[in-house]
Amino acid sequence: MTSTTDKQSSTSIPPVFHNNDKGTFGYYTATERWPIIISNCINDLDNHLNQLSANLLKEGVADYELIESSGKVIKNKILALRKDIVKGDVLLEKFPEKLIAKRPIYKDFNLYLENPDDGQPPNSLTWANSGWLFSEVYLYNRIHQYFLESGSAYWIKQFDIFNAVKQSTFKSSIYGVLELAIKYKNLHPKFINELTYNAEGTNLDTLQILFNEFVEISLWGNATDLSLLTNATLEDIKSIQGAEARKKSESKILINDTKRAWEHLLSSNKNEKSGKRVDIICDNSGFELYADLLLALFLLDTRIVDKVVFHSKDIPYMVSDVMNKDLTILLNDLMDPSFFPRNDNTNDDPFTFLADHVIEYLNSEKIIIKDDPFWTNYFDYWSIDSNSEGSAIYNEFIESKTSLIIFKGDLNYRKLTGDRRWDRTTPFKAAIGPLSHNGLPILSLRTCKADVVVGLSDGVDEKLCKEWEALGHEYGSWWCSSGKWAVICFSEGTS
Ligand code: F6P
Ligand code: MG
Repeated sequence: MTSTTDKQSSTSIPPVFHNNDKGTFGYYTATERWPIIISNCINDLDNHLNQLSANLLKEGVADYELIESSGKVIKNKILALRKDIVKGDVLLEKFPEKLIAKRPIYKDFNLYLENPDDGQPPNSLTWANSGWLFSEVYLYNRIHQYFLESGSAYWIKQFDIFNAVKQSTFKSSIYGVLELAIKYKNLHPKFINELTYNAEGTNLDTLQILFNEFVEISLWGNATDLSLLTNATLEDIKSIQGAEARKKSESKILINDTKRAWEHLLSSNKNEKSGKRVDIICDNSGFELYADLLLALFLLDTRIVDKVVFHSKDIPYMVSDVMNKDLTILLNDLMDPSFFPRNDNTNDDPFTFLADHVIEYLNSEKIIIKDDPFWTNYFDYWSIDSNSEGSAIYNEFIESKTSLIIFKGDLNYRKLTGDRRWDRTTPFKAAIGPLSHNGLPILSLRTCKADVVVGLSDGVDEKLCKEWEALGHEYGSWWCSSGKWAVICFSEGTS
């Protein structure tokens, strides 16, 4: 899954993690976690179906019976998919040719299945023997296939099978959301009056401290990932959000390149036409997207940058990942007192204040959100290069002269490093391939929820493995899949 040139020029690139690598978190995910994730989404679809005809009738939708029956067909297909996954030695089917016009990236998956590049024979990939990253991305594309096959605009355009869980977890985030909203509302006048970035560098020390803080808020926002929080209680969620939790977690940031990212951001050139720009490759909706928006507001209010572009997913993906409509939903949730109850009834509450502020920036196009099927394709990010599959994305970043591309979360980190079995002391630059030298400034904010991690100092992995095992866990190396540690890695993109 690396670009062809890089594969040929290097012999030391380790293999990717596979679903049958016993003792890995990938193996556990493919055998234990996927069946649970799929059962949960079947239940949510079922709940939706139970109320569907009544709801559609109320709305005066004439073909409600057809919508309902196609919904049941989708549900049965997902049930069958679950059985295949549990069985394991079932071939990963190619996507139907007739759907390629609707979703062209299915062709890329089919080509890969015909000829996998990880040493396995053509057309031999199963749920059990395939690469973890490939099959996980394939899984969410397969679920989407069933919605596309229904041919129903209702299921394709309006429905998100993960919406119920996205919404209920965001609702449970009320304490973290409120704490940050109050904090931002209080700081806002300072940002636009006293702390504005200026060429003389008057406020640089304070701005740097605040940058660190908003980066940390955005980083730990990633700890609220719905695929790991399937059974989390309100207390669990509370314990990983909020200032106190972040303070406690500072020692859990194993690598922290924030200072380098800050220096690069300040010294980078702006685009003559559109000014200085930062890109955020989103991960999860709800609390994490909210935390990312705060980082964007800080950068824009203080005029450190002129534009922030959010990159989102074009299909329901990895349970909680952001789609464009999730930003609209988040803003509506913030403005809705029945979603986040208020203590007073004024319109000046911190939730509404924040929502209004984001909307202003959306209206003036200083905040933009856009999706692209590249982010839901199986290619890893070594392909974000001029002559590779991600060339269009690459060209956009280069042409816009973006000052920083912030990759949020675990899956993006797996894609940056190819989800390979790197020695954990491998330098970050070595593990991100062409991205280390093709001109793109990369900042990865990741809480560790998978097997791969790089850039650790000598001895750190060994120490954490021992600590994790001493806590009674079967595999010491799984400290790295627990979501309790994090890394902030920067590469300026020049060798
Ligand atoms: O399977 C592990 C996993 O659930 C993957 O889907 C993904 O790598 C990650 O965890 C999701 O986390 P994040 O939302 O941070 O990418
Ligand atoms: Mg995610």
